[in-house]
Amino acid sequence: MLRCDKKMVVLLLGAPGAGKGTIANFLEKEYGFFHLATGQLFRQITKQNSVLANKIKKIINAGKLVNDTLTNKLVKNNLVGKKAENIVLDGYPRNVMQAKYLNKFCKIDYVFDLCVKENIIIKRIIGRRICPICQTIYNIYYKKPKQWNHCNFDHHILIKRDDDTIQTIKLRLQEYKKFNQPLVTYYQKKGIYKKITLMGKRLITQIEKILKL
Ligand code: AP5
Repeated sequence: MLRCDKKMVVLLLGAPGAGKGTIANFLEKEYGFFHLATGQLFRQITKQNSVLANKIKKIINAGKLVNDTLTNKLVKNNLVGKKAENIVLDGYPRNVMQAKYLNKFCKIDYVFDLCVKENIIIKRIIGRRICPICQTIYNIYYKKPKQWNHCNFDHHILIKRDDDTIQTIKLRLQEYKKFNQPLVTYYQKKGIYKKITLMGKRLITQIEKILKL
């Protein structure tokens, strides 16, 4: 089990655009968590010139999930041997198969399910911009950079994700709905599930309080 050399493992569930990456970035920057985001790992792979890269690109842009075997292997490779004290998992697991796989080698302490209404989610995703260098997440409606379309930290021009189109968002939401409820039930039965409905500063405060940060 990874747990023995870690302080805590936090898992973030939630629909596309629910704010998983934003919270995980916060825990990483403010509290030094090791942040593992499967979506980000896959996006890195798509930049390569390979058959696998093209395959993953097609899956992401179709709003589907990448197959469990590849996803599980990627996660395990990135987790095993990590010296970080605290870990936040963002976007993994996405279904019960992945959760059961994770359970074999990693004890989860907290599962936060970020619940946000669909109309807000769509506006958030349409407005999302990302720094391709440091991965800081911005939003043209909710979290504007200091200088228009430039990262606050490295001043690089911000980009929009290829899968942040209205058509793909709808497909991603459909895919999310197919797999989410069994996953929620799985963690509810383990007694570590917590539904989170707050937003903004109050959301951060609630998470800090639960994690005793
Ligand atoms: P992934 O990158 O994980 O995308 P996702 O789950 O669709 O989630 P998002 O990254 O879109 O949203 P988020 O919840 O992180 O929101 P964020 O904080 O950015 O996965 C992409 C693809 O990879 C998948 O579709 C799949 O193909 C594949 N994949 C990934 N993991 C996989 C797995 N385990 N198995 C199989 N395939 C997998 O926030 C969104 C916006 O809202 C931002 O602009 C932000 O500034 C803003 N915002 C956030 N919080 C707030 C707030 N409280 N108030 C106002 N604005 C806010």
